[in-house]
Amino acid sequence: MPVRPPDYPAGKASARPSRTPVSASRAPSPDQSSPLLGNLTPSQFMRRYWQKKPLLIRQAIPDIAAPLTRDELFELADQDEVESRLITHFRNKWQLEHGPFAADELPSVRQRAWTLLVQGVDLHNDSARALLDRFRFVPDARLDDLMVSYATDGGGVGPHFDSYDVFLLQVHGKRRWRIGAQRDLSLQPGLPLKVLQHFEPEEEWLLEPGDMLYLPPHIAHDGVAQGECMTCSIGFRAPSTAELAAQFLYYLAERGEAAGARDRDALYRDPQQPAVAKPAALPAALVDRVGAILAKIDWSDKDVSTFLGTYLSEPKPSVVFDPPQRPLDAARFAKRASNEGVRLDRKTVLLYDNRFYYLNGEENSLTGVKSWLTELADSRYLSAKRFVTLSQQSSVTALLHEWYRAGWIQMGELR
Ligand code: SIN
Ligand code: CO
Repeated sequence: MPVRPPDYPAGKASARPSRTPVSASRAPSPDQSSPLLGNLTPSQFMRRYWQKKPLLIRQAIPDIAAPLTRDELFELADQDEVESRLITHFRNKWQLEHGPFAADELPSVRQRAWTLLVQGVDLHNDSARALLDRFRFVPDARLDDLMVSYATDGGGVGPHFDSYDVFLLQVHGKRRWRIGAQRDLSLQPGLPLKVLQHFEPEEEWLLEPGDMLYLPPHIAHDGVAQGECMTCSIGFRAPSTAELAAQFLYYLAERGEAAGARDRDALYRDPQQPAVAKPAALPAALVDRVGAILAKIDWSDKDVSTFLGTYLSEPKPSVVFDPPQRPLDAARFAKRASNEGVRLDRKTVLLYDNRFYYLNGEENSLTGVKSWLTELADSRYLSAKRFVTLSQQSSVTALLHEWYRAGWIQMGELR
C-alpha cells in the first residue's frame, strides 16, 4: 500500500412553502450584476480581475452581520478538529501558536496587537457556509474555505503575500489594508510566520463592515485592525504542480495502474547480469531496464478526472461527519423529506463531470441519477416537492437514506 504523500499547505423542521432555496442562487448568476462584485457581473469580474488584479468593493454586502460572535469564535478555536492560530505582535516581536486554545489561553481582549485565525469556519457554522455560498460563481473545485480572523486594535499578521486568491470581507469593526504589487517577495528570516522583508504599499483603504477587498495571488498586503475587528477570508485552493503530481502518482499507484497493470506483479529479471568485481556499483543496465519499465506508466483522461474528482472532494483530514444518533428508518426518512426536502450537509463536497459524480472522495457513475444529482450538487438542496417526485423511484430514496445515515445530507431547507 503506497503511503499517501502529505497534503502541502481535507433544526427545527419547517414545513413552510419553499423560498428559492437554491444555494447556487446565493451567488449571483454569471450575467447578473451584483453589489457583491461592485455591480459587476461574475462574468465581468472573472474576465477583468480574477487572478489578474485587486479590486476594492465598498458595501459588497450591506448590513452584513458577522457569521458568529467573538465568543462563538473562541469556542471553535478550543476544538481539536478546528485549525486555529494565534499571532501576537507584542513589543515588536512576531509570535505564532497553533490551537486548540482554551478561552484562558488567549490574551485578554483588552490587550492590543493580537489576532486569532480560525480556518474552515464554514464547516461548523451555517451562516459562514451561507456566506461562502455567495462565491459559488467560482467552481466548487476551486473554493477552499472561509477563515475568520478576530483582532484587537493594532492586530494583524504582518505584511505578506499569499499564493491563492482571496476575498477579504470586513464583517465587524474596521481594518486598514495596504497593498502593493511589488516584485521583491523576500521574507524576513527566522520568523515563525511569513512577513515581507521590504513592504512597499501602493494603495491604502480603511474597510468598514460590508466592504471587501479581492486580491489575486502574490499581491503584497497588510491588514491592521483599527479597534476590535473581525474579517472573513474566502480562500481558494491552488494546488502546486508538485502537490498535484505527487497526489496523482499516489492515485496511480493505489489504482494499480502504475507500471502497466497487466504485469505489475512481474518480478524484475536480469538473466544477462555478469559477475562483478565492484559489487557496490549501481549497474547501468539496471537503470536502463527500470527506466524502460517506468516509461510504460500510462494514464487516460479518465484517470485524470477520477483523480481530480476524488482528490478535490475528499474531506479535509480534520472533517468528521455527524451521522444522526437515532436515524429514522427509510419509510420515516422518506416521509419527513417529502415535507421538508433535503440539503447537503455543510461539510459535504459533491462534484460531477459528464459521467461520474464524486461525493466526499468517492466516485460513482451518474447513470440513472444524473437529472437530480447534478441539481442537488449545484443547488445543494432538493425541495420537498422535488423529493416527492423523485421518491417514486425507490432507488433514489434508498440512496438518499444511506447518505442521511452517513451524515452527508440533512433534512430541511438550506440555512
Ligand atoms: C487576516 O484576516 O487577518 C489575514 C488575512 C490575510 O491577510 O490573508
Ligand atoms: Co493574506
